[in-house]
Amino acid sequence: MQIISEISNLREIRRSWQIEGKVIGFVPTMGNLHQGHLTLVQEARKVADIVVVSIFVNPLQFGPDEDLEAYPRTMAQDTQALQELGVDVLFTPKAQDIYPRGLEQQTFVEVPGISYMICGASRPGHFRGVATIVCKLFNMVQPNHAFFGEKDFQQLQVIKAMVTDLSMNLHIHGVPTVRDADGLAMSSRNQYLKPNERALAPLLYQTLKDIADLIQLGRRDYSKIIIEKKQKLAEAGLKPDYIEIRAADTLLMPGHEDMRLVVMVAAFLGRARLIDNIQVTLKD
Ligand code: PAF
Repeated sequence: MQIISEISNLREIRRSWQIEGKVIGFVPTMGNLHQGHLTLVQEARKVADIVVVSIFVNPLQFGPDEDLEAYPRTMAQDTQALQELGVDVLFTPKAQDIYPRGLEQQTFVEVPGISYMICGASRPGHFRGVATIVCKLFNMVQPNHAFFGEKDFQQLQVIKAMVTDLSMNLHIHGVPTVRDADGLAMSSRNQYLKPNERALAPLLYQTLKDIADLIQLGRRDYSKIIIEKKQKLAEAGLKPDYIEIRAADTLLMPGHEDMRLVVMVAAFLGRARLIDNIQVTLKD
């Protein structure tokens, strides 16, 4: 595995792959890799000749009171895991090369609408930061395929919208969430949980499954379900930020015609803000 930090070196090797007609698969990450990330790499390997993984903790997607400084950085472990999986290139750009004119003057990519709702309402500017860095990384790596976890369902929809709106020539793959045995979705932020909080955390996925079951049983009083389930989470000791039931493709409130729904949850548990979702396909 080659480890490349300079953008010019990446562009050079990218040119040689172009000449050789290689198909490039790309997995952008912020490091602290867990099985969820490694599954993205395995999916990339299925369709690509060359697999590129990036590790860059992107300051632009963190709010002023968020965990940018504390975000776990585990480069040595990450490098070993990617090497073992046979990744071709690990791209680790430096912040000053990614944002050479500083964050204040940075040109943004903003996907309107979908970026402002749900998580975007709780984390203003977050999806602008995500869209901007992903667009920049796509410009550098020029992948044919890029892979994102469905755990960050709204992020995936924002990136798909960006790719459509900016006529980008690549295929975006959403990969199902990888979970611990008790159902907790894998996330770098799980390590912020103290043991008693970790024991409570699977309640998030349990809540999503319960809501999915209620919908499949015919309940359509979504507002009532959401109020009940938020109350249950709060009683158990979590601080729910939101529970939303939305149309899976648009993330808008579902209409009668929407057969594919997504139930999304975010909750604070100790220092961690955890998110998860489940997709529900209605039977007609
Ligand atoms: O999902 C993540 O880890 C990040 O949001 C991403 C896509 C790597 C952009 O920084």
